[in-house]
Amino acid sequence: MKNLFCLIAVLTPALVCAEPSSKLAWTAEQLSLVESGNPQKGRELAQACAACHGEQGISAVPTYPSLAGQLPTYLFKQLQDYRDGSRQNPLMNGIAKGLTPQDAADVAAWFSTRPAAILSANAKGAYPTAENLVKRGDKQRLLPPCEVCHGTDGKGQAQDVPALSGQSGDYLAASLRAFKSGERHNDIYARMRILAETLSDPEIEALGLYYQNSQQ
Ligand code: HEC
Ligand code: HEC
Repeated sequence: MKNLFCLIAVLTPALVCAEPSSKLAWTAEQLSLVESGNPQKGRELAQACAACHGEQGISAVPTYPSLAGQLPTYLFKQLQDYRDGSRQNPLMNGIAKGLTPQDAADVAAWFSTRPAAILSANAKGAYPTAENLVKRGDKQRLLPPCEVCHGTDGKGQAQDVPALSGQSGDYLAASLRAFKSGERHNDIYARMRILAETLSDPEIEALGLYYQNSQQ
């Protein structure tokens, strides 16, 4: 697999193959740790997250992501990546270091059981450029449709493809720009960096709004 990754890196020179993108591997042990997450314990820990991510995991600040309804495996992975520095953010690196792996599993279990945000009416049809990319991709750019991985309802899928529907458009666009520049590089096999590199800024904005206006 490392060879495949290096081959991809040769094809897209912005990527490096020396360092793994994320140190997390989805072993049976890692998965059973996430499954053991206790939502009641997580609820207590989540009090420390409420100021930024909202009491019920729905953020009131457009640049802060909502966590409600997100896959527990994805939330757990992001916390591990912030913890070991694979994903860089001045606020989250410190916060994640204060959580043990069991705490991360507990808090992921809690937020994943909260109902996903409905930020607005189901109005994704208002963004035809984005809808085209989501449903059909672009053969000329070898761009697969987003829904192949993120699901036709934007709910994400195991283990680490996040739900996007109902997420803040500003946050989604910022994440896409960070994958595009390589500033965010914790996506295993560079699955998002390879795609984001080909997206224009107006497409990124439209994709953010499309998913903000979609319901899971
Ligand atoms: C001071 C504000 C603040 C607090 C408190 C905070 N967060 Fe965050 N969190 C952020 C910001 C800002 C981001 C987006 C950072 C980035 O772009 O990488 C984020 C991102 C995340 C992500 C990644 C979400 C995604 O969709 O990729 C997770 C998971 C997360 N936080 C969990 C937590 C948990 C659990 C707590 C409490 C233990 C917490 N955060 C407390 C501000 C905060
Ligand atoms: C080959 C599978 C695949 C395809 C196709 C794909 N994604 Fe992703 N996407 C992922 C994975 C895996 C992650 C999680 C990366 C990580 O571990 O941080 C992700 C993460 C994201 C995130 C970050 C979400 C967050 O909460 O931080 C955004 C935004 C995103 N994808 C948007 C898109 C859009 C828009 C498209 C279509 C143009 C797309 N993705 C196509 C696999 C894919």
